Amino acid sequence: MAARAVGLLASLPLCAQRSQVLRPIHRLLSCPRTVAAEIKREEQSSGSVETGDGAVSSVCSVAATHRGRGKGEETGIAGERVACGHGRGAFGNRGLYAVVEFCQKESVTSLQNGTRTPSMGTEAAIPFRSRVFNLKTKNPSNPTSEQSRVQCSIHAPPSSKKLLELLCYAESIDDQLNTLLKELQLTEENTKLRYLTCSLIEDIAAAYFLDCTVRPFGSSVNSFGKLGCDLDMFLDLDEIGKFSANKTSGNFLMEFQVKNVPSERIATQKILSVIGECLDHFGPGCVGVQKILNARCPLVRFSHQASGFQCDLTTNNRIALKSSELLYIYGALDSRVRALVFSIRCWARAHSLTSSIPGSWITNFSLTMMVIFFLQRRSPPILPTLDSLKTLADAEDKCVIEGHNCTFVRDLNKIKPSGNTETLELLLKEFFEYFGNFAFNKNSINIRQGREQNKPESSPLHIQNPFETSLNISKNVSQSQLQKFVDLARESAWILNQEDKDRPSSSRSQPWGLAALLMPSVVNSASLAKRVRKKPASERIKSLLESIKSSSPENATSTNGKRTVSTQA
Ligand code: GTP
Ligand code: MG
Repeated sequence: MAARAVGLLASLPLCAQRSQVLRPIHRLLSCPRTVAAEIKREEQSSGSVETGDGAVSSVCSVAATHRGRGKGEETGIAGERVACGHGRGAFGNRGLYAVVEFCQKESVTSLQNGTRTPSMGTEAAIPFRSRVFNLKTKNPSNPTSEQSRVQCSIHAPPSSKKLLELLCYAESIDDQLNTLLKELQLTEENTKLRYLTCSLIEDIAAAYFLDCTVRPFGSSVNSFGKLGCDLDMFLDLDEIGKFSANKTSGNFLMEFQVKNVPSERIATQKILSVIGECLDHFGPGCVGVQKILNARCPLVRFSHQASGFQCDLTTNNRIALKSSELLYIYGALDSRVRALVFSIRCWARAHSLTSSIPGSWITNFSLTMMVIFFLQRRSPPILPTLDSLKTLADAEDKCVIEGHNCTFVRDLNKIKPSGNTETLELLLKEFFEYFGNFAFNKNSINIRQGREQNKPESSPLHIQNPFETSLNISKNVSQSQLQKFVDLARESAWILNQEDKDRPSSSRSQPWGLAALLMPSVVNSASLAKRVRKKPASERIKSLLESIKSSSPENATSTNGKRTVSTQA
């Protein structure tokens, strides 16, 4: 496996401009020159460490520190410069991790060659040579002064209390939505760590499938990801076929002898089953591996300890890559899109409308589709329909996957900007009003045509899959979950309407605007919900509003978590 890593290093071009902001969708970024190292320390430097919700999201620049104290030499890099002025470190949930990117691919080989497999005492080590290393101080009882000078910039999401404070002190509801986006969106470092993690998994998968690639998709790259969101990975095996496509020998066509299985789905299940076993048995820091092979889209789920990411590995799921690209385009078209999607996702999470556990809940993906649809319905529209994006496409954009037309224009310059100037405040309110009164019983949401259509089936919520148009992406949503969404949407619209009239001008420490909407106590408590249902709607919401407004932010985060703003993805 180590030999394969070297081969991969040799076969990929160097990429000089890593420090530029990633535009990940168009970027096949593998990280052959990047390693992650865990620095075992007795204590962490004061004031420099803050981990958030179990994810590695605090990133610090430690490369200079390493260079300064000759850490490279100590660990056998032997003469290689540690980094091309571009080292990154990240605090993991088990200690301090430094991500180091080298100028020369050989540096990684050199590092691997100079690294020993630890002796384990009573346990045994699997001698897999990955690009994740432990750097142990030789004398842990005497940490060097350089270690305690490690500086870092925090990339964890702010605490619930801090977020609430920031929202309360914002100038306007528009400002609140933009603040939420700024505080929760993925940082450049976090995104890089996601690409690095994919490339580490690729190293393992390549033991069987040389030249495979593992790519991130979903919210890690579609611009709607929040700090702490999962890492969706796509194991791409198609490149393997392409390498040998034109190889002929005289009159003969040479083919690899391969194993045949009855269907594509069975092939996918078999591949993921074996890769799942490899991750479980040999993958450094890959824990809690679950093979979920009977799902509509089979996957392997696991936690990657060094990065702190919860990972979902799929294959044969190319349409999801296209969906991610489409969402990225929509997010980039108008600055209001991401701000609105982040707020709606946070609002839904705060009220337990979404969950990290699969079930009858609405998903973030569905919520994003609803926001896009709503923005297509504005007058004038803020976003174009998928059909119009298809009309603008040229030959290079043409894409058909498994018979499904996934063509849409990818050059943003070809899409005319919207003339709509509505504020985020208005859009937020109107979003809740629109879906609080939407005829879910008979209509389907459809971003391809951007208009309501008759539901083709009886699921409570029907959101047409944009590419596999006969499928409903929200088929799992139950009637009760949909009703909860509608109730909350109506109440949120009402609260925002009240804000117009009663907005407190002096007391900005009270939750108001978006902050008030994120307070879970509004309808989250079952007993409260029962009680309030008996009252007429307006009275109920008035009393709910009173209960929100009478609570200070401090109280909001301390009463058994019931009134805590949830920022989890
Ligand atoms: P997070 O909740 O932040 O993880 O959002 P996400 O967009 O990453 O969602 P998720 O991890 O559930 O799914 C990853 C990607 O898979 C999505 O972005 C979609 O591209 C795709 N996807 C998710 N659910 C569906 C579905 O029901 N149908 C289809 N066709 N694609 C889906
Ligand atoms: Mg995801």
